[in-house]
Amino acid sequence: MFSKQTYALRRSELRRLLRENGQSGIAVLIGNAEAPRNYYGNTYHMRQDSTFLYYFGLDRHDLAAIIDIDADSDTLYGNDYTVDDFIWMGPQSSVAEQGLTVGVENAKDFAALASDVKKATSQTRKVHYLPPYRAHNRQIVASMLSIPFDDVVNHISTPLIEAVVAQREIKTIEEIAQIDEACNIGNMMHRTAMKMCRPGVTEREVAGQIEGIALKYGKGVSFHSIVSQNGETLHNHSHDGILTDGRLFLVDSGAENVMNYCSDFTRTMPVNGKFSSRQRDIYQIVYNAIITGQQKSKPGITNQSVQIDVAMGMVDGLKAIGLLKGNTEDAVMVGAQALLMPHGLGHQLGLDVHDMEDLGEKFVGYNKSVQRSTIPGLASLRMGKELKVGHVLTVEPGIYFIPALVDKWQSEGKCAEFINFDKVREYFGFGGCRLENDILITEGGCRELGDERPPLQIDEVESFINS
Ligand code: GLY
Ligand code: MN
Ligand code: MN
Repeated sequence: MFSKQTYALRRSELRRLLRENGQSGIAVLIGNAEAPRNYYGNTYHMRQDSTFLYYFGLDRHDLAAIIDIDADSDTLYGNDYTVDDFIWMGPQSSVAEQGLTVGVENAKDFAALASDVKKATSQTRKVHYLPPYRAHNRQIVASMLSIPFDDVVNHISTPLIEAVVAQREIKTIEEIAQIDEACNIGNMMHRTAMKMCRPGVTEREVAGQIEGIALKYGKGVSFHSIVSQNGETLHNHSHDGILTDGRLFLVDSGAENVMNYCSDFTRTMPVNGKFSSRQRDIYQIVYNAIITGQQKSKPGITNQSVQIDVAMGMVDGLKAIGLLKGNTEDAVMVGAQALLMPHGLGHQLGLDVHDMEDLGEKFVGYNKSVQRSTIPGLASLRMGKELKVGHVLTVEPGIYFIPALVDKWQSEGKCAEFINFDKVREYFGFGGCRLENDILITEGGCRELGDERPPLQIDEVESFINS
């Protein structure tokens, strides 16, 4: 955990931001509960809500808190364990004791949350809450406000979301050190995958080894690992394949460190240790794209414009090998390259791998000055707004040959003036190629996170696999 001053300062800054925006009342933050896996007592790995972690730092289930916007006071809600629990769990500190470790003086039973919220509403005070992404927490909101479950989404506090995003999206020095550490774990995971890469090894063996590293040095993976020769399936979570000579192997994975800060890297490598000339061509276009993305990322530039610059370079590269054609700018403006890169260039990263996605991409990635584009590819960008010092985000271009998508676009004649469909079809079976780094926006531009990254250049990748 950070010091109790860190959490107290974060809460008082949240209060300040809300007051500055003319808000009053109370902000209710609800932590996560254990979630049953296949029966009540056998649960998924407990993951605390990231906003609760940010303001209260306590990685214990079934906690909630009220930040009083008007009164400079915070209250923690949760039930103390009893001896009956200690038998199974070992000794546990009380909720009040835990609160003191993060600078919270007031602690009450969980049931008092509903009565305190009811008291606030009876005094016509505003009750602010964030979008609950778990049914259990949505039910808590419904009960405490005495509103129907389906109505909970209609009363979410936009001012609270905006204040939380404004705070959480600018990473402090102590947070950046945590993300660097998560990236160092990610680096070890990816280097291990590269070392294991050879024909006959199963995807599952690689996934198991790298996920073991995430657990050895941190709290495990930051999302389901993508460890696949079928990299054209963007979020492919099957690990059933056997690595085969001649194919590409895509690994997109990251770790959470012990403080729940995340990393997210992608590397693509030739199973047999040597890129074919066709694989080399595609890889080099993606490599140039990630370098362009990183070079263009700096304060004052929108990430949407970075994706456009990256797309221009990719279209030029794809034209040079005959897959696309026509005027580059016109192609990008209609999103022709989205046939081969249907996703966005990146997202914010922090306590979540897609940081704050639960609060809504329109608040995290966009604002009044930068609206989401409707152009294919660009429309999928999760983080479009202006970059600021302290932003942490991914840069993750890719090229994929997805037969169903090619069939669809070709049958519809979509962007036909910019795409050589027959040539694209020759790449069916190629798979996908994605490269992903994590960057911090600095005064002068950006820096790659982690003390070391997995090999990226073609020669480095080949020599690392073969060393
Ligand atoms: N791992 C999912 C992503 O890179 O966004
Ligand atoms: Mn990723
Ligand atoms: Mn990512």
